[in-house]
Amino acid sequence: MAESEERTFLAIKPDGVQRGIIGEIIKRFEMKGFKLVGMKMLEASEDLLMEHYIDLKDRPFFPTLLKYMRSGPVVAMVWEGKGVVKTGRVMLGETNPADSKPGTIRGDFCIDVSKNIIHGSDSVESAKKEISLWFKPEELVTYTSCAFSWLY
Ligand SMILES: Nc1ncnc2c1ncn2[C@@H]1O[C@H](COP(=O)(O)OP(=O)(O)O)[C@@H](O)[C@H]1O
Ligand SMILES: [Mg+2]
Repeated sequence: MAESEERTFLAIKPDGVQRGIIGEIIKRFEMKGFKLVGMKMLEASEDLLMEHYIDLKDRPFFPTLLKYMRSGPVVAMVWEGKGVVKTGRVMLGETNPADSKPGTIRGDFCIDVSKNIIHGSDSVESAKKEISLWFKPEELVTYTSCAFSWLY
């Protein structure tokens, strides 16, 4: 990974998966120019989600949030590129879809804060924590082993 590059953790939540928005979300990040370096589908365990959302554990919506995140499979991804954490958040929109501008993922595809289809790390530091929580190092690629640099 080049020094100037950073990584973020994105997760397409169960509603995004069930509504068939996986491809659209991946397409937006690909077209923007970011690199997908890790991806898997899983039914996230309660322990994993408790850890992931630990900062929100005292919020009144926490039990609902856990139930929502366990309502089906999620697509966990790691994306790499210059400024990907901040730009990723801009591409997601605001936490509440009602405050999200058209053109953002939440602004275009959802209406309810409790069903906002996608997670994205909010800082480089939390991205590092989240990536190590959801992925083993060997589940991530670097593209350095590509025999030819077709695009990158
Ligand atoms: N007031 C709320 N009511 C229900 N769910 C909420 C509320 N606020 C946040 N959430 C849920 O918790 C997730 C995590 O919250 P937060 O970290 O504040 O937002 P973000 O996902 O934009 O970083 C949100 O994406 C959303 O799914
Ligand atoms: Mg957050």
